[in-house]
Amino acid sequence: MSAWSAKPPEELPAWRRLGKLAERPLDWGGDHFANFSARLGPLLVDYSKQRIDAKVIAALLDFANQSGLTQAIRDLFGGAVVNRTENRPARHMNLRIAGAARPFLEIAEAVRDGRWLGRTGKPIRAVVHIGIGGSHLGPELACQALAPAPALDIRFLANVDGGAVDAALRGLDPSETLAIIASKSFSTLETRVNAQSVRDWFGNPNAVARHLIAVTANEAAAREFGVPAENILLIDDAVGGRYSLWSAVGLPIAIALGREGFESFLEGARLVDSHFETAPLDRNIPVLLALLQIWNTNFHGAASHAVLAYDHRLRLLPDYLQQLEMESNGKSARDDGEPARTHTAPIVWGGEETGGQHAFHQLLHQGSRAFSADFIACIRPDHDRPEHHAWLLANCLAQSQALMQGRALAELPDEPLSPHRQVRGGHPSTTILLDALTPQSLGALLALYEHKTFCAAALWQINPFDQWGVELGKELAAPLHAALAGDDPLAAPLDFSTRGLLQEIERRTS
Ligand code: F6P
Repeated sequence: MSAWSAKPPEELPAWRRLGKLAERPLDWGGDHFANFSARLGPLLVDYSKQRIDAKVIAALLDFANQSGLTQAIRDLFGGAVVNRTENRPARHMNLRIAGAARPFLEIAEAVRDGRWLGRTGKPIRAVVHIGIGGSHLGPELACQALAPAPALDIRFLANVDGGAVDAALRGLDPSETLAIIASKSFSTLETRVNAQSVRDWFGNPNAVARHLIAVTANEAAAREFGVPAENILLIDDAVGGRYSLWSAVGLPIAIALGREGFESFLEGARLVDSHFETAPLDRNIPVLLALLQIWNTNFHGAASHAVLAYDHRLRLLPDYLQQLEMESNGKSARDDGEPARTHTAPIVWGGEETGGQHAFHQLLHQGSRAFSADFIACIRPDHDRPEHHAWLLANCLAQSQALMQGRALAELPDEPLSPHRQVRGGHPSTTILLDALTPQSLGALLALYEHKTFCAAALWQINPFDQWGVELGKELAAPLHAALAGDDPLAAPLDFSTRGLLQEIERRTS
Protein backbone atom coordinates (compact mmCIF):
# COMPACT_ATOMS: atom_id res chain seq x y z
CA MET A 1 0.00 0.00 0.00
CA SER A 2 1.16 3.58 -0.54
CA ALA A 3 2.78 5.27 2.43
CA TRP A 4 0.16 7.99 2.28
CA SER A 5 -3.10 6.25 1.51
CA ALA A 6 -4.82 3.27 3.06
CA LYS A 7 -6.33 2.27 -0.29
CA PRO A 8 -5.31 2.34 -3.95
CA PRO A 9 -6.62 5.41 -5.83
CA GLU A 10 -9.51 3.65 -7.57
CA GLU A 11 -10.87 2.40 -4.24
CA LEU A 12 -11.04 5.82 -2.59
CA PRO A 13 -14.59 7.20 -2.22
CA ALA A 14 -13.74 10.40 -4.11
CA TRP A 15 -12.67 8.35 -7.16
CA ARG A 16 -16.18 6.97 -7.49
CA ARG A 17 -17.69 10.41 -7.03
CA LEU A 18 -15.41 11.80 -9.76
CA GLY A 19 -16.59 9.03 -12.07
CA LYS A 20 -20.17 10.17 -11.57
CA LEU A 21 -19.31 13.85 -12.00
CA ALA A 22 -17.57 13.14 -15.29
CA GLU A 23 -20.88 12.02 -16.76
CA ARG A 24 -22.87 15.15 -15.99
CA PRO A 25 -22.87 18.57 -17.72
CA LEU A 26 -20.73 21.29 -16.17
CA ASP A 27 -22.01 24.34 -14.40
CA TRP A 28 -20.43 27.22 -16.35
CA GLY A 29 -21.97 29.84 -14.03
CA GLY A 30 -20.03 32.39 -12.01
CA ASP A 31 -16.82 34.07 -13.03
CA HIS A 32 -14.95 31.04 -14.25
CA PHE A 33 -11.73 32.93 -14.93
CA ALA A 34 -11.67 34.55 -11.49
CA ASN A 35 -12.50 31.24 -9.82
CA PHE A 36 -10.12 29.07 -11.80
CA SER A 37 -6.98 31.09 -12.40
CA ALA A 38 -4.23 32.07 -10.02
CA ARG A 39 -1.05 34.06 -9.86
CA LEU A 40 2.17 32.50 -8.64
CA GLY A 41 4.99 35.07 -8.62
CA PRO A 42 5.82 35.85 -12.26
CA LEU A 43 3.32 33.27 -13.57
CA LEU A 44 -0.38 33.50 -14.28
CA VAL A 45 -1.96 30.05 -14.43
CA ASP A 46 -5.37 29.99 -16.11
CA TYR A 47 -7.07 26.63 -15.77
CA SER A 48 -10.56 27.97 -16.43
CA LYS A 49 -10.62 26.24 -19.84
CA GLN A 50 -10.48 22.85 -18.10
CA ARG A 51 -13.68 20.78 -17.84
CA ILE A 52 -14.36 21.83 -14.29
CA ASP A 53 -16.78 23.57 -12.00
CA ALA A 54 -16.93 24.03 -8.25
CA LYS A 55 -18.25 20.49 -7.63
CA VAL A 56 -15.50 18.88 -9.70
CA ILE A 57 -12.80 20.86 -7.91
CA ALA A 58 -14.30 19.95 -4.53
CA ALA A 59 -14.31 16.24 -5.44
CA LEU A 60 -10.74 16.44 -6.74
CA LEU A 61 -9.66 18.05 -3.46
CA ASP A 62 -11.43 15.29 -1.54
CA PHE A 63 -9.46 12.84 -3.60
CA ALA A 64 -6.22 14.66 -2.74
CA ASN A 65 -7.10 14.54 0.95
CA GLN A 66 -8.07 10.88 0.85
CA SER A 67 -4.78 10.14 -0.97
CA GLY A 68 -2.76 11.68 1.88
CA LEU A 69 -1.26 14.32 -0.39
CA THR A 70 -0.53 16.77 2.43
CA GLN A 71 1.62 14.17 4.16
CA ALA A 72 3.32 13.30 0.86
CA ILE A 73 4.35 16.95 0.43
CA ARG A 74 5.54 17.09 4.04
CA ASP A 75 7.61 13.95 3.50
CA LEU A 76 9.14 15.27 0.29
CA PHE A 77 10.30 18.47 1.99
CA GLY A 78 11.18 16.66 5.23
CA GLY A 79 13.74 14.45 3.49
CA ALA A 80 11.83 11.17 4.00
CA VAL A 81 12.58 8.26 1.67
CA VAL A 82 10.08 9.12 -1.07
CA ASN A 83 12.05 7.20 -3.73
CA ARG A 84 11.31 3.83 -2.24
CA THR A 85 12.63 1.52 -4.95
CA GLU A 86 16.04 3.18 -4.64
CA ASN A 87 15.71 3.83 -0.91
CA ARG A 88 16.45 7.57 -1.17
CA PRO A 89 14.89 10.91 -0.42
CA ALA A 90 14.50 13.42 -3.27
CA ARG A 91 16.59 16.44 -2.47
CA HIS A 92 16.38 18.67 -5.55
CA MET A 93 14.72 21.47 -3.54
CA ASN A 94 17.84 21.67 -1.35
CA LEU A 95 19.78 22.84 -4.39
CA ARG A 96 17.65 25.98 -4.40
CA ILE A 97 18.20 26.97 -0.76
CA ALA A 98 19.31 30.61 -0.51
CA GLY A 99 22.96 31.13 0.40
CA ALA A 100 24.01 27.46 -0.02
CA ALA A 101 27.60 26.87 -1.21
CA ARG A 102 27.76 26.46 -5.00
CA PRO A 103 31.43 25.92 -5.96
CA PHE A 104 30.53 25.46 -9.64
CA LEU A 105 29.57 29.15 -9.77
CA GLU A 106 33.24 30.05 -9.18
CA ILE A 107 34.21 27.96 -12.20
CA ALA A 108 31.44 29.56 -14.24
CA GLU A 109 32.69 33.04 -13.35
CA ALA A 110 36.30 32.12 -14.16
CA VAL A 111 35.27 30.77 -17.57
CA ARG A 112 33.13 33.85 -18.28
CA ASP A 113 35.84 36.31 -17.24
CA GLY A 114 38.55 34.60 -19.29
CA ARG A 115 40.44 33.54 -16.15
CA TRP A 116 40.09 29.82 -16.94
CA LEU A 117 42.95 29.24 -19.35
CA GLY A 118 43.46 26.30 -21.67
CA ARG A 119 46.67 24.33 -21.90
CA THR A 120 48.34 26.86 -24.21
CA GLY A 121 47.36 29.78 -21.98
CA LYS A 122 44.44 30.97 -24.11
CA PRO A 123 41.06 31.78 -22.50
CA ILE A 124 38.11 29.52 -23.16
CA ARG A 125 35.85 30.62 -26.01
CA ALA A 126 33.63 27.56 -26.44
CA VAL A 127 31.98 25.06 -24.13
CA VAL A 128 30.80 21.61 -25.21
CA HIS A 129 28.39 20.10 -22.69
CA ILE A 130 28.26 16.31 -23.02
CA GLY A 131 25.32 14.59 -21.36
CA ILE A 132 21.95 13.07 -22.17
CA GLY A 133 18.41 13.01 -20.74
CA GLY A 134 18.31 14.83 -17.45
CA SER A 135 21.97 15.70 -17.82
CA HIS A 136 21.20 17.56 -21.03
CA LEU A 137 17.66 18.80 -21.58
CA GLY A 138 17.41 21.24 -18.67
CA PRO A 139 20.75 22.95 -19.34
CA GLU A 140 20.10 23.32 -23.08
CA LEU A 141 16.53 24.53 -22.51
CA ALA A 142 17.67 27.17 -20.00
CA CYS A 143 20.57 28.33 -22.19
CA GLN A 144 18.33 28.66 -25.25
CA ALA A 145 15.64 30.40 -23.25
CA LEU A 146 17.72 32.83 -21.26
CA ALA A 147 20.88 33.43 -23.29
CA PRO A 148 20.00 33.20 -26.96
CA ALA A 149 23.27 34.99 -27.92
CA PRO A 150 25.81 34.17 -25.20
CA ALA A 151 29.31 35.68 -25.17
CA LEU A 152 30.79 32.18 -25.31
CA ASP A 153 29.86 29.54 -27.86
CA ILE A 154 27.94 26.97 -25.78
CA ARG A 155 27.11 23.68 -27.51
CA PHE A 156 25.39 20.48 -26.42
CA LEU A 157 26.28 16.93 -27.39
CA ALA A 158 23.76 14.30 -26.33
CA ASN A 159 23.15 11.79 -29.13
CA VAL A 160 25.66 9.01 -29.71
CA ASP A 161 25.35 9.67 -33.46
CA GLY A 162 28.81 10.48 -34.85
CA GLY A 163 27.21 13.25 -36.90
CA ALA A 164 26.19 14.94 -33.65
CA VAL A 165 29.82 14.79 -32.48
CA ASP A 166 31.02 16.37 -35.73
CA ALA A 167 28.39 19.10 -35.46
CA ALA A 168 29.24 19.86 -31.84
CA LEU A 169 32.96 20.21 -32.57
CA ARG A 170 32.74 21.84 -36.00
CA GLY A 171 34.92 24.94 -36.26
CA LEU A 172 36.12 24.80 -32.66
CA ASP A 173 39.73 25.14 -31.58
CA PRO A 174 40.60 22.51 -28.92
CA SER A 175 42.97 24.90 -27.19
CA GLU A 176 40.07 27.29 -26.52
CA THR A 177 37.37 24.71 -25.75
CA LEU A 178 36.14 23.38 -22.43
CA ALA A 179 34.25 20.07 -22.35
CA ILE A 180 31.84 19.41 -19.50
CA ILE A 181 30.97 15.74 -19.04
CA ALA A 182 27.68 15.66 -17.12
CA SER A 183 26.63 12.21 -16.02
CA LYS A 184 25.31 11.33 -12.61
CA SER A 185 26.28 7.68 -13.06
CA PHE A 186 29.28 8.34 -15.33
CA SER A 187 28.29 5.09 -17.02
CA THR A 188 25.65 6.18 -19.53
CA LEU A 189 26.65 4.70 -22.86
CA GLU A 190 26.03 7.74 -25.05
CA THR A 191 27.88 10.09 -22.73
CA ARG A 192 30.85 7.75 -22.29
CA VAL A 193 31.28 7.23 -26.03
CA ASN A 194 30.86 10.93 -26.81
CA ALA A 195 33.24 11.92 -24.01
CA GLN A 196 35.88 9.51 -25.32
CA SER A 197 35.63 11.00 -28.82
CA VAL A 198 35.88 14.54 -27.49
CA ARG A 199 38.82 13.59 -25.26
CA ASP A 200 40.57 12.14 -28.33
CA TRP A 201 39.79 15.32 -30.28
CA PHE A 202 41.75 17.31 -27.70
CA GLY A 203 44.78 15.28 -28.78
CA ASN A 204 47.57 15.10 -26.27
CA PRO A 205 46.17 13.04 -23.36
CA ASN A 206 48.44 14.86 -20.89
CA ALA A 207 46.98 18.20 -21.88
CA VAL A 208 43.29 17.52 -21.31
CA ALA A 209 43.39 18.47 -17.62
CA ARG A 210 42.53 22.12 -18.31
CA HIS A 211 39.85 21.17 -20.81
CA LEU A 212 37.73 18.55 -19.06
CA ILE A 213 35.26 19.06 -16.25
CA ALA A 214 33.11 16.21 -14.91
CA VAL A 215 29.80 16.67 -13.13
CA THR A 216 28.88 13.39 -11.48
CA ALA A 217 27.99 11.40 -8.39
CA ASN A 218 30.60 8.80 -9.39
CA GLU A 219 33.94 10.39 -8.58
CA ALA A 220 35.98 7.21 -9.06
CA ALA A 221 34.76 6.71 -12.64
CA ALA A 222 35.48 10.34 -13.54
CA ARG A 223 39.01 10.06 -12.11
CA GLU A 224 39.57 6.84 -14.03
CA PHE A 225 38.43 8.59 -17.21
CA GLY A 226 41.21 11.13 -16.71
CA VAL A 227 39.44 14.10 -15.18
CA PRO A 228 41.67 15.67 -12.52
CA ALA A 229 40.20 15.70 -8.99
CA GLU A 230 39.97 19.51 -8.90
CA ASN A 231 37.79 19.47 -12.04
CA ILE A 232 35.22 17.03 -10.66
CA LEU A 233 32.00 18.60 -9.42
CA LEU A 234 30.07 16.17 -7.26
CA ILE A 235 26.31 15.95 -7.29
CA ASP A 236 24.03 14.48 -4.65
CA ASP A 237 22.96 10.89 -5.22
CA ALA A 238 19.49 11.86 -4.00
CA VAL A 239 18.93 14.26 -6.92
CA GLY A 240 17.49 12.50 -9.97
CA GLY A 241 18.85 13.37 -13.42
CA ARG A 242 15.66 15.06 -14.58
CA TYR A 243 15.63 17.20 -11.42
CA SER A 244 19.33 18.11 -11.58
CA LEU A 245 19.64 21.28 -13.64
CA TRP A 246 19.74 23.30 -10.40
CA SER A 247 23.01 21.58 -9.43
CA ALA A 248 26.44 21.66 -11.09
CA VAL A 249 24.70 19.96 -14.04
CA GLY A 250 23.55 23.53 -14.70
CA LEU A 251 27.15 24.72 -15.16
CA PRO A 252 26.53 25.78 -18.79
CA ILE A 253 23.54 27.81 -17.60
CA ALA A 254 25.76 29.52 -15.03
CA ILE A 255 28.42 30.14 -17.69
CA ALA A 256 25.78 31.67 -19.96
CA LEU A 257 24.03 33.77 -17.28
CA GLY A 258 26.69 34.45 -14.67
CA ARG A 259 26.30 34.05 -10.92
CA GLU A 260 23.55 36.62 -10.53
CA GLY A 261 21.43 35.17 -13.31
CA PHE A 262 21.80 31.63 -11.98
CA GLU A 263 20.90 32.75 -8.45
CA SER A 264 17.81 34.41 -9.83
CA PHE A 265 16.89 31.18 -11.66
CA LEU A 266 17.10 29.37 -8.30
CA GLU A 267 15.13 32.12 -6.62
CA GLY A 268 12.24 31.59 -9.05
CA ALA A 269 12.19 27.89 -8.22
CA ARG A 270 12.44 28.67 -4.50
CA LEU A 271 9.38 30.86 -4.69
CA VAL A 272 7.39 27.93 -6.05
CA ASP A 273 8.91 25.55 -3.46
CA SER A 274 7.70 27.79 -0.70
CA HIS A 275 4.22 28.08 -2.22
CA PHE A 276 4.01 24.32 -2.73
CA GLU A 277 5.16 23.54 0.80
CA THR A 278 2.83 25.97 2.56
CA ALA A 279 -0.27 26.75 0.47
CA PRO A 280 -3.46 24.88 1.39
CA LEU A 281 -4.39 22.23 -1.15
CA ASP A 282 -7.27 24.25 -2.60
CA ARG A 283 -4.92 27.11 -3.52
CA ASN A 284 -1.83 25.06 -4.21
CA ILE A 285 -1.13 25.40 -7.93
CA PRO A 286 1.07 22.31 -8.47
CA VAL A 287 -1.54 20.27 -6.57
CA LEU A 288 -4.39 21.65 -8.70
CA LEU A 289 -2.48 21.00 -11.94
CA ALA A 290 -1.82 17.41 -10.87
CA LEU A 291 -5.47 16.90 -9.97
CA LEU A 292 -6.49 18.23 -13.38
CA GLN A 293 -4.11 15.74 -14.97
CA ILE A 294 -5.83 12.91 -13.07
CA TRP A 295 -9.23 14.32 -14.09
CA ASN A 296 -8.29 14.41 -17.77
CA THR A 297 -6.35 11.14 -17.86
CA ASN A 298 -8.51 8.91 -15.72
CA PHE A 299 -11.99 10.37 -16.14
CA HIS A 300 -11.96 11.83 -19.66
CA GLY A 301 -9.73 9.35 -21.48
CA ALA A 302 -6.97 11.83 -22.38
CA ALA A 303 -4.07 9.59 -23.38
CA SER A 304 -1.88 12.43 -24.55
CA HIS A 305 -0.92 15.88 -23.38
CA ALA A 306 0.35 18.59 -25.73
CA VAL A 307 2.81 21.24 -24.56
CA LEU A 308 2.43 24.19 -26.91
CA ALA A 309 5.20 26.75 -26.46
CA TYR A 310 4.29 30.12 -27.94
CA ASP A 311 7.83 31.43 -27.65
CA HIS A 312 10.78 30.57 -29.83
CA ARG A 313 13.09 30.63 -26.80
CA LEU A 314 11.03 27.87 -25.14
CA ARG A 315 11.20 25.52 -28.12
CA LEU A 316 12.87 22.81 -26.04
CA LEU A 317 10.24 22.95 -23.29
CA PRO A 318 8.11 20.11 -24.78
CA ASP A 319 11.16 17.80 -24.82
CA TYR A 320 12.12 18.79 -21.31
CA LEU A 321 8.62 18.18 -19.95
CA GLN A 322 8.38 14.97 -21.92
CA GLN A 323 11.30 13.58 -19.95
CA LEU A 324 10.13 15.07 -16.67
CA GLU A 325 6.62 13.66 -16.88
CA MET A 326 7.06 10.50 -18.92
CA GLU A 327 10.23 9.24 -17.26
CA SER A 328 8.83 10.13 -13.85
CA ASN A 329 5.27 8.92 -14.16
CA GLY A 330 5.20 6.47 -17.05
CA LYS A 331 4.80 3.52 -14.67
CA SER A 332 2.54 0.50 -14.28
CA ALA A 333 3.64 -0.75 -10.87
CA ARG A 334 2.43 1.04 -7.80
CA ASP A 335 4.80 1.98 -5.01
CA ASP A 336 3.87 -1.19 -3.13
CA GLY A 337 4.76 -3.38 -6.13
CA GLU A 338 1.15 -4.15 -7.01
CA PRO A 339 0.06 -3.46 -10.60
CA ALA A 340 -1.49 -0.01 -11.05
CA ARG A 341 -5.14 -0.43 -11.99
CA THR A 342 -5.48 3.12 -13.30
CA HIS A 343 -3.77 4.78 -16.23
CA THR A 344 -0.76 6.87 -15.24
CA ALA A 345 1.13 9.57 -17.20
CA PRO A 346 -0.21 10.51 -20.61
CA ILE A 347 2.10 10.72 -23.62
CA VAL A 348 3.58 14.21 -23.44
CA TRP A 349 4.52 15.82 -26.71
CA GLY A 350 4.26 19.22 -28.36
CA GLY A 351 6.25 21.84 -30.17
CA GLU A 352 7.15 25.42 -30.84
CA GLU A 353 4.23 27.48 -32.04
CA THR A 354 2.86 28.76 -34.32
CA GLY A 355 4.35 26.05 -36.56
CA GLY A 356 2.15 23.30 -35.13
CA GLN A 357 -0.98 25.22 -36.13
CA HIS A 358 -0.10 24.41 -39.74
CA ALA A 359 0.66 20.79 -38.99
CA PHE A 360 -0.80 18.82 -36.09
CA HIS A 361 -3.50 21.22 -34.89
CA GLN A 362 -5.78 19.82 -37.60
CA LEU A 363 -5.97 16.63 -35.56
CA LEU A 364 -6.37 18.55 -32.32
CA HIS A 365 -9.40 20.35 -33.70
CA GLN A 366 -11.04 17.61 -35.74
CA GLY A 367 -9.41 14.33 -34.74
CA SER A 368 -11.31 11.77 -32.76
CA ARG A 369 -9.18 11.32 -29.65
CA ALA A 370 -9.24 12.97 -26.26
CA PHE A 371 -6.19 14.94 -25.11
CA SER A 372 -5.28 17.85 -22.88
CA ALA A 373 -2.92 20.75 -23.59
CA ASP A 374 -0.81 23.40 -21.92
CA PHE A 375 -0.34 26.72 -23.69
CA ILE A 376 2.76 28.64 -22.56
CA ALA A 377 3.44 32.24 -23.58
CA CYS A 378 5.22 35.36 -22.37
CA ILE A 379 3.35 38.65 -21.95
CA ARG A 380 6.38 40.83 -22.72
CA PRO A 381 8.79 39.74 -25.47
CA ASP A 382 12.55 40.33 -25.52
CA HIS A 383 12.48 41.90 -28.99
CA ASP A 384 11.28 45.11 -30.47
CA ARG A 385 8.75 43.74 -32.93
CA PRO A 386 5.37 44.43 -31.27
CA GLU A 387 3.44 43.42 -34.38
CA HIS A 388 4.95 39.93 -34.26
CA HIS A 389 4.30 39.55 -30.58
CA ALA A 390 0.67 40.62 -30.87
CA TRP A 391 0.16 37.97 -33.57
CA LEU A 392 1.92 35.33 -31.50
CA LEU A 393 -0.26 36.02 -28.46
CA ALA A 394 -3.41 36.32 -30.57
CA ASN A 395 -2.74 32.87 -32.01
CA CYS A 396 -2.07 31.39 -28.59
CA LEU A 397 -5.38 32.72 -27.26
CA ALA A 398 -7.28 31.78 -30.42
CA GLN A 399 -6.12 28.17 -30.38
CA SER A 400 -7.09 27.48 -26.78
CA GLN A 401 -10.41 29.26 -27.40
CA ALA A 402 -11.09 27.13 -30.47
CA LEU A 403 -10.21 23.93 -28.59
CA MET A 404 -12.66 24.82 -25.84
CA GLN A 405 -15.55 26.25 -27.86
CA GLY A 406 -15.33 24.45 -31.17
CA ARG A 407 -17.87 25.32 -33.85
CA ALA A 408 -21.13 23.38 -33.97
CA LEU A 409 -22.82 22.38 -37.21
CA ALA A 410 -25.77 24.55 -36.21
CA GLU A 411 -23.54 27.65 -36.36
CA LEU A 412 -22.56 26.94 -39.95
CA PRO A 413 -24.56 27.58 -43.13
CA ASP A 414 -26.65 24.71 -44.44
CA GLU A 415 -24.32 23.58 -47.24
CA PRO A 416 -22.45 20.39 -48.18
CA LEU A 417 -19.06 21.51 -46.80
CA SER A 418 -20.34 22.43 -43.36
CA PRO A 419 -19.96 18.93 -41.83
CA HIS A 420 -16.27 19.16 -42.78
CA ARG A 421 -15.91 22.53 -41.12
CA GLN A 422 -17.46 21.79 -37.79
CA VAL A 423 -15.07 21.64 -34.84
CA ARG A 424 -15.94 19.50 -31.83
CA GLY A 425 -14.43 21.65 -29.05
CA GLY A 426 -14.58 20.64 -25.40
CA HIS A 427 -10.83 19.99 -25.20
CA PRO A 428 -9.35 21.01 -21.85
CA SER A 429 -6.31 23.26 -21.65
CA THR A 430 -4.34 25.35 -19.19
CA THR A 431 -2.65 28.58 -20.21
CA ILE A 432 0.45 29.71 -18.35
CA LEU A 433 1.52 33.29 -18.99
CA LEU A 434 4.97 34.40 -17.88
CA ASP A 435 5.20 38.17 -17.28
CA ALA A 436 8.45 37.97 -19.27
CA LEU A 437 10.97 35.21 -19.83
CA THR A 438 13.62 35.80 -17.15
CA PRO A 439 15.80 33.48 -15.07
CA GLN A 440 13.32 33.93 -12.24
CA SER A 441 10.20 33.13 -14.27
CA LEU A 442 11.78 30.12 -15.98
CA GLY A 443 12.94 28.80 -12.60
CA ALA A 444 9.40 29.19 -11.30
CA LEU A 445 7.87 27.49 -14.35
CA LEU A 446 10.13 24.44 -14.19
CA ALA A 447 9.70 24.02 -10.43
CA LEU A 448 5.93 24.25 -10.92
CA TYR A 449 6.06 21.31 -13.34
CA GLU A 450 8.40 19.33 -11.07
CA HIS A 451 5.99 19.60 -8.17
CA LYS A 452 2.96 18.89 -10.33
CA THR A 453 4.71 15.70 -11.44
CA PHE A 454 5.43 14.68 -7.85
CA CYS A 455 1.79 15.24 -6.84
CA ALA A 456 0.43 13.27 -9.80
CA ALA A 457 2.71 10.38 -8.84
CA ALA A 458 1.56 10.52 -5.22
CA LEU A 459 -2.06 10.46 -6.39
CA TRP A 460 -1.44 7.52 -8.72
CA GLN A 461 0.66 5.94 -5.94
CA ILE A 462 3.69 5.40 -8.15
CA ASN A 463 7.34 6.38 -7.64
CA PRO A 464 8.30 9.37 -9.84
CA PHE A 465 12.01 9.16 -8.99
CA ASP A 466 13.07 5.87 -10.57
CA GLN A 467 13.16 4.77 -14.23
CA TRP A 468 13.57 1.00 -14.37
CA GLY A 469 11.85 0.83 -17.74
CA VAL A 470 14.86 2.23 -19.61
CA GLU A 471 17.14 -0.61 -18.52
CA LEU A 472 15.94 -3.42 -20.80
CA GLY A 473 16.86 -1.58 -24.01
CA LYS A 474 20.29 -0.75 -22.60
CA GLU A 475 20.91 -4.44 -21.81
CA LEU A 476 19.81 -5.59 -25.24
CA ALA A 477 21.99 -3.01 -27.02
CA ALA A 478 25.30 -4.28 -25.59
CA PRO A 479 25.46 -7.70 -27.33
CA LEU A 480 24.02 -6.20 -30.53
CA HIS A 481 26.78 -3.60 -30.53
CA ALA A 482 29.38 -6.31 -30.02
CA ALA A 483 27.93 -8.26 -32.95
CA LEU A 484 27.82 -5.17 -35.20
CA ALA A 485 31.38 -4.25 -34.25
CA GLY A 486 32.41 -7.80 -35.22
CA ASP A 487 33.73 -8.55 -31.72
CA ASP A 488 31.39 -11.31 -30.59
CA PRO A 489 28.85 -13.47 -32.34
CA LEU A 490 25.50 -13.23 -30.61
CA ALA A 491 25.23 -15.74 -27.82
CA ALA A 492 21.48 -15.63 -27.25
CA PRO A 493 19.00 -16.65 -29.97
CA LEU A 494 17.42 -13.62 -31.66
CA ASP A 495 13.84 -12.87 -32.60
CA PHE A 496 13.02 -13.07 -36.34
CA SER A 497 12.95 -9.32 -36.94
CA THR A 498 16.15 -8.37 -35.13
CA ARG A 499 17.97 -11.29 -36.77
CA GLY A 500 16.75 -10.26 -40.21
CA LEU A 501 17.72 -6.63 -39.73
CA LEU A 502 21.14 -7.54 -38.36
CA GLN A 503 21.82 -9.85 -41.30
CA GLU A 504 20.77 -7.15 -43.75
CA ILE A 505 23.13 -4.63 -42.13
CA GLU A 506 25.96 -7.16 -42.19
CA ARG A 507 25.29 -8.05 -45.84
CA ARG A 508 25.34 -4.40 -46.89
CA THR A 509 28.45 -3.48 -44.95
CA SER A 510 30.73 -6.45 -45.55
O1 F6P B 1 18.59 6.26 -19.08
C1 F6P B 1 17.82 7.18 -18.41
C2 F6P B 1 18.69 8.11 -17.62
O2 F6P B 1 19.19 7.41 -16.54
C3 F6P B 1 17.97 9.36 -17.16
O3 F6P B 1 17.19 9.15 -16.06
C4 F6P B 1 19.11 10.28 -16.93
O4 F6P B 1 18.71 11.61 -16.86
C5 F6P B 1 19.96 9.98 -18.13
O5 F6P B 1 19.79 8.59 -18.36
C6 F6P B 1 21.42 10.30 -17.98
O6 F6P B 1 21.99 9.62 -16.89
P1 F6P B 1 23.39 10.02 -16.35
O7 F6P B 1 23.32 11.42 -15.82
O8 F6P B 1 23.71 9.03 -15.27
O9 F6P B 1 24.37 9.94 -17.48
